[in-house]
Amino acid sequence: MASLWTPICDKLGIEFPIFGFAHDVKTVAAISNAGGYGVYGATRRFPHEISDELQQIQDLVGGKPFGVDLVLPPDMPQHNSREAIEAEIPPEHKAFVEDLIQRYNVPKGSGPGMRTRFIRSQEIETAQLKAVINSDVNMFACGIGAPPEAVAQAKARGKVTLALIGSPHHVQRTIAAGVDIIVAQGYDAGAHTGPIGTFSLVPQIVEAAGDVPVLVAGGVATGRHIAAALAMGAQGVWLGTAWLLSQEHQGHMHPVNTKKLIQAGSGDTVITRSESGKTFRQVRTGWSQEWESENAPTPLKMPYQDVLVGDLLGAIEEHDIEPLIHSGAGQSIGYFNEVRPVQTIMDELVGQSVTALRAQSQFLR
Ligand SMILES: Cc1cc2nc3c(=O)[nH]c(=O)nc-3n(C[C@H](O)[C@H](O)[C@H](O)COP(=O)(O)O)c2cc1C
Repeated sequence: MASLWTPICDKLGIEFPIFGFAHDVKTVAAISNAGGYGVYGATRRFPHEISDELQQIQDLVGGKPFGVDLVLPPDMPQHNSREAIEAEIPPEHKAFVEDLIQRYNVPKGSGPGMRTRFIRSQEIETAQLKAVINSDVNMFACGIGAPPEAVAQAKARGKVTLALIGSPHHVQRTIAAGVDIIVAQGYDAGAHTGPIGTFSLVPQIVEAAGDVPVLVAGGVATGRHIAAALAMGAQGVWLGTAWLLSQEHQGHMHPVNTKKLIQAGSGDTVITRSESGKTFRQVRTGWSQEWESENAPTPLKMPYQDVLVGDLLGAIEEHDIEPLIHSGAGQSIGYFNEVRPVQTIMDELVGQSVTALRAQSQFLR
């Protein structure tokens, strides 16, 4: 029986060219165990947590390959200093957040939120990278920015390196940094995303990347999308939104988010800078609408916006403030309407890809 395969499968030792990004250990391990390549989003984890969690994934996948992703944006402050950043936040922004807290009756959180556990800084990025380099993880993925020194360190330890990019202009810089695989991530994608649509982006990146393999991200939800990705010259796909409604991920997700994601169609996501300071696609909720309102201030740059809203975001989930609870998600969320195991999602993607690839041959004569 035919199955889905591209050369990158043999190169990396995986069954299917389907890469899955997730923020939790169980989902990542399930993706690798289902024949794909699971990648752990560790950018909000302390270095010692990264070491522990990569070991946990390793224990769950046996010898199967898996990766880790860090977001290493340029121009972050040198030190992990919340006070220094807080001192620079304009009073107008603080007042807006205070007003949200009052109007929605949000009690204080028991601790900092996910975005304020630590503040992005060069100091913490260096320590996170060290934890990655010293682990046995097979792949190091760069979410935003691919610093050449980080890529070189990972390669020196025998790791495959990968970078997500959203513009053809970034191809040469990424290849020059020594990256082995490029993910071309289009506008449809969940969380941080750029302005160019997946269809417009991918063939340009494939063309410019030459021999460097390209994966397609942003809007991939079915085997038809996978067949289209291969038709555009890519060697595989990279999905994030698809796993949000996996059974394995539910322990990591507020139940209100599960409900909102099940109900959301492709038209129900928005891009907002209110989450992190950079353009971020999420399901439209009271949160995004408040920041779009006439009296809302313009969100601050990263990491100032993180500091401004991080504690509140944590408190919103901790105290079940339903209208403001939200999740990052891409336009492909419209294809996912129930909670299913990762294995079922993977089987469906592979089965549909084979059908779609077979169907394409009818157009040849
Ligand atoms: C909730 C969520 C959080 C994400 N966080 C990160 C991240 O920390 N680092 C990263 O490189 N990509 C992140 N992504 C993007 C994914 O890696 C992937 O490129 C994207 O989800 C692919 O498009 P899709 O959402 O249409 O599947 C995130 C995606 C989602 C949905």
